[in-house]
Amino acid sequence: MYSVADKYDASEFSLFYPDLLPIVLQQCEVSPAGIHGVDHWARVLENGLILSTQTGADRRIIELFAMFHDSKRMNDGPDLAHGFRGALFAQSLRGRYFELNDKDFHMLFEACRDHTMGHTKANITVQTCWDADRLDLARVGVVPNPKYLCTDAAKVSSLVTWATLRSLDRVMPVTLKKYGWSCPSTRNAQIELVSG
Ligand SMILES: [Fe+2]
Ligand SMILES: [Fe+2]
Repeated sequence: MYSVADKYDASEFSLFYPDLLPIVLQQCEVSPAGIHGVDHWARVLENGLILSTQTGADRRIIELFAMFHDSKRMNDGPDLAHGFRGALFAQSLRGRYFELNDKDFHMLFEACRDHTMGHTKANITVQTCWDADRLDLARVGVVPNPKYLCTDAAKVSSLVTWATLRSLDRVMPVTLKKYGWSCPSTRNAQIELVSG
């Protein structure tokens, strides 16, 4: 279906925190089926994993960023503080559901807090998180502009095209289904996912 899809494959990666998604969803403020919901998180994660092969970014932080960065949106419209709330939420679960040393947690915190600020300068792992998110903008009607991407890896036109087509179709990456990542269509489905 996607002519460039075969070039980008994250199936070789395994997750560091396969049990964390239901915990995050349990306290999620926004609909997991919405435009900032689970299928977006999944594409951000896969985009980030693919970018990490070029950037060398820390894949633990990419995985955590994917789950936390939009987890505390209050709605699917303007909500400027959601990144900061997502960072604080990650802080509240650190040490109970995942471990990171102070230096690494600072990167996760910055990546979540500032992901909507439009910055392009940061540590390479933080940059990779931001690019992974920005590559999934087509679902809200914005084609990623290389000018606003941070890393050379993300600016490759075939990758931008691939990510854009996936975003438009709101594809749930197949490689994450085996970890229970799915796209609940209702709040009830979310509750089922959490309790099941
Ligand atoms: Fe966001
Ligand atoms: Fe996002």
